[in-house]
Amino acid sequence: MISLTIDGKQVEVPEGTSVLRAAEKAGINIPTLCDHPALPPYGGCRLCVVEVQGFRTPIASCTLPANQGMVVSTDTERLRSIRKFVLTMLFSERNHFCPYCQKTGGDCELQNAAYGEDMTHWPISPNWSPFSVDASHPYFIFDHNRCILCRRCVRACANLVGNFTLDMENRGARTQIVADYGLPMGESSCVRCGTCVQVCPTGALIERSSAYQGLEKDAQEIQSICTACSVGCGVRLLVRDNRIIRILGDFEAPLNGGVLCNLGRYQSLEDDRQRVKVPMVRKDGGLSPVSWAEAINLVAGKLENAGDKVAALISSRLPAEDLYTFKRLFGKDVQARVVASLEEDFTTAKAGNENLYGNLEDLKKSDCVLVVGADLVKSHQVAGFFIKRNRPNGLSLIVVDPSENEMDDIAQFTLHNKKGSDAELVHGLIAGVVNLGFNKSNAASFTSALEPLAISEAAETSGIPAETLLAVSRELGVAQNPVIVFGKGITRKNDGALQQLEELASVTGARLINPMGKANSAAAQSYGLNVKFVPDGDQVLFLALGDEQPSERLQESIAGIPFMILQTSHSSPLMETADVVLPVVDWTEQSGYYLNLEGRLQYAEQALIPPPMVWSNRETFHALAKAMNFKPDGVAISDWREPLVIRN
Ligand code: FES
Repeated sequence: MISLTIDGKQVEVPEGTSVLRAAEKAGINIPTLCDHPALPPYGGCRLCVVEVQGFRTPIASCTLPANQGMVVSTDTERLRSIRKFVLTMLFSERNHFCPYCQKTGGDCELQNAAYGEDMTHWPISPNWSPFSVDASHPYFIFDHNRCILCRRCVRACANLVGNFTLDMENRGARTQIVADYGLPMGESSCVRCGTCVQVCPTGALIERSSAYQGLEKDAQEIQSICTACSVGCGVRLLVRDNRIIRILGDFEAPLNGGVLCNLGRYQSLEDDRQRVKVPMVRKDGGLSPVSWAEAINLVAGKLENAGDKVAALISSRLPAEDLYTFKRLFGKDVQARVVASLEEDFTTAKAGNENLYGNLEDLKKSDCVLVVGADLVKSHQVAGFFIKRNRPNGLSLIVVDPSENEMDDIAQFTLHNKKGSDAELVHGLIAGVVNLGFNKSNAASFTSALEPLAISEAAETSGIPAETLLAVSRELGVAQNPVIVFGKGITRKNDGALQQLEELASVTGARLINPMGKANSAAAQSYGLNVKFVPDGDQVLFLALGDEQPSERLQESIAGIPFMILQTSHSSPLMETADVVLPVVDWTEQSGYYLNLEGRLQYAEQALIPPPMVWSNRETFHALAKAMNFKPDGVAISDWREPLVIRN
């Protein structure tokens, strides 16, 4: 530990801590602009200057490492005059006419810094020529006139997202942020995650959807998790008038460290489907509004009369409490023929050897990643960011996919193998690793891979040349922290590829990660809901869809069932054939536990109050159990619980 004195206060910090962070620890505020806690220090704005005893000139504290015995002053006449000068130059360089900016009044860090230095005006006449306003992007606008060139957006795009879209061009007063060396933002390689917008300290980058909807400082903030996929990123939901005005990444969240993907930040608020607000029953060919009591009694009667000809399906986007209550009700009391999750693709996702499975921290630290049967740009994008941002550190990426994969361009090895040959290809890689002498496992079960023909057979079956298989095997063999990510391309088949991947993990010492599918797929699996639904003369379907959009595959698979009870938050094509519709909450209106892809249990907080006639999923299950007079083992229905299988 290092001990130093800041403004007369003694503070102890670990070696390598900057003076700025040491001051924060001591509760001393040093104004900053280019600094952001999630980004590496840059030292561009010079607002954070401090005086250090023995140093001739003031120095930026964000890039200055704390030293033993250092004596630092943060608030002197000289420093105040330097800060005013820095701010004056910034204000006079571009158009900072604050009243016209959506961030004015508390959300702009430039304006706040000026007020912090008691500035009411700037003494230099503005001297700037107009810059362009780039409105080509679907989610945000880049007004270069309000940019202070702090490079936060550039650093966030590179260091947090690993996309490297943004950079600077020109020099001096003409310096400007550019995307892909000069493309409009909307036509660039931007992945639309919005991280650059969130870190922008001024109104240079503003979101289209939330512009002028209210200041961040005035909104109610709910800390929660994103339920768009199984990564489970920490989010800050900004709420105003029972409406979410903005979704921000939570920089304190250990899992995602502030980054979000396009789906979590923007698309999850773009729901333009019609809301279902009252229970409905089909009468004379059409759906008519009814009371909850009438709907529940009708459903209870139908379920009782159908015996074991009931199929019950639930969305694995719903909280664990809902999944378990559903399983308990339909699996035990109703004794439905099939009780399953809507997700059909993870029936073989169960790990043979739990010890081989890793977590997202492994992915963040990995030096070699093999991605098989998954496209981490199309889904689970934040997990893809953890891979992409490691490239400057020498990360080696291997993509195995029979089709085009959006990570192809950045991969060292792209193996477009023949369809259905994953198991053979992976077997060839095992043979390569073993034959090259990199085997890190003592297990005897790999001897088959030692057969000299294993690699050439794998090459023949997969269509990937033997030399490529050997080169990839070497890459995996020499890696210190290899990780294998496998997705639906593997789990939806039962062709032995998963077992081969587990063996490959064993011989290379790699950690396996399965992104699974939806937000609570792991909980659904834990409750045994990972059963594939195959229709078989079912008379009644209970479909707890929640806020999920029904896929075409689902619609086809349930098409022949005579009576459908649809529990949903929004209208969908299924309403045309549903016999009873029960209105339930969407993801913003419910709370509950989620088990993410790495087995981390997290709690999602309710952010909004649902419409008056809308119930939670659990409430409808409880009402049904009551109407059917179930007495579950003397335990109150509301106390139905079962521990989840948690790995971390
Ligand atoms: Fe230190 Fe900008 S915050 S130089």
